[in-house]
Amino acid sequence: MANLIVIFPMIFTILIDFCSRSEAQAAVVGVNYGMLGDDLPSPAQVVSLFESRGIGRLRLFHPDAAALEALRGSGIEVVLGTLNEELPGLAADPSSAEKWVAANVAPFAGSVRFRYINAGNEVVPGDAAGNVLPAMRNLAAAVRAAGLQIPVTTAVATTALGVSYPPSQGAFSEAAAGLITPIAAFLRSTSAPLLVNVYPYFSYAGNPGDVALDYALFRAAGVAVRDGALGYDNLFDAMVDSVHAALEKAGASEVEVVVSETGWPSGGGGLGATVENAAAYVNNAVAHVRKGGGTPRKPGNATETYLFAMFNENQKPAGTERHFGLFHPNMTEIYHVNFQP
Ligand SMILES: *[C@@H]1O[C@H](CO)[C@@H](O)[C@H](O)[C@H]1NC(C)=O
Ligand SMILES: *[C@@H]1O[C@H](CO)[C@@H](O)[C@H](O)[C@H]1NC(C)=O
Repeated sequence: MANLIVIFPMIFTILIDFCSRSEAQAAVVGVNYGMLGDDLPSPAQVVSLFESRGIGRLRLFHPDAAALEALRGSGIEVVLGTLNEELPGLAADPSSAEKWVAANVAPFAGSVRFRYINAGNEVVPGDAAGNVLPAMRNLAAAVRAAGLQIPVTTAVATTALGVSYPPSQGAFSEAAAGLITPIAAFLRSTSAPLLVNVYPYFSYAGNPGDVALDYALFRAAGVAVRDGALGYDNLFDAMVDSVHAALEKAGASEVEVVVSETGWPSGGGGLGATVENAAAYVNNAVAHVRKGGGTPRKPGNATETYLFAMFNENQKPAGTERHFGLFHPNMTEIYHVNFQP
């Protein structure tokens, strides 16, 4: 009995080790490290928490020097955003992009694995959207000039779509199309993905009469939406495919979609914002993308996905916005997430 207890965990550890190693090459799930809280743990504690939970990818909304220091040598792949406020400067002046890269990327690049740099978050469409592509160009040139190879992109919300249902009819809105079409051409020419924030929660909460909770939570009994030859049993895939369809119409079917944010609030008073639903959504989303099958419209490659977010953030707008965390600020779980298979 005693031997079994010793041997069994050993075999188990070897198995986990083997799986996590093959997973390291194909880790598809990361978590957004939002910092809009006055009670969050130190970056070093946060990076340790990512490591102890086996979370191999992390997204930062701005180049926080302490977080980048803490990430050195961790092996965690980092998606690094610019602040939206930085875009006008980055767009106007190539040398300001050079300074940005020299200050925020180059000093860390030897020991931090940068996966993408995103110029702005949810800026297109909007008043400042015209800055996004020039900022992307300047940042990409600055990255190249620094001798680095990091794809440069931007993150958009699904509100950039004018049509999203059925998924095959997905198209960017008139306001967004004129901006995103040249951005998509740039992404295609540089083999960079488009980052998209995908929230089945808001579709459900905004339209519970039409969007079934089980369809939003990945637990529909079978195909819930038929779209020509394709069938959808979850809203996440349908939303990602509506972006695929929109990119095809914009002449950029080769551009991959990376889900830069998805999540479900565990509180805050919104419809369906419960710990049980959040735990179901997040665990089902992780299991779904880990299966690696992609979406009905673009099967084959796993949908690289970043959960929103690591912590509840008390400086976000009151309500559900403050309750998207997987962890309390004291680093205890709000609900358990299986990051390992
Ligand atoms: C899968 O990913 C590879 C590498 O990024 C890419 O070359 C290929 O086109 C992708 N396949 C599909 C079906 O998207
Ligand atoms: C962590 O914070 C949560 C939320 O404030 C609280 O309910 C829980 O008791 C705390 N746990 C510990 C160990 O401090």
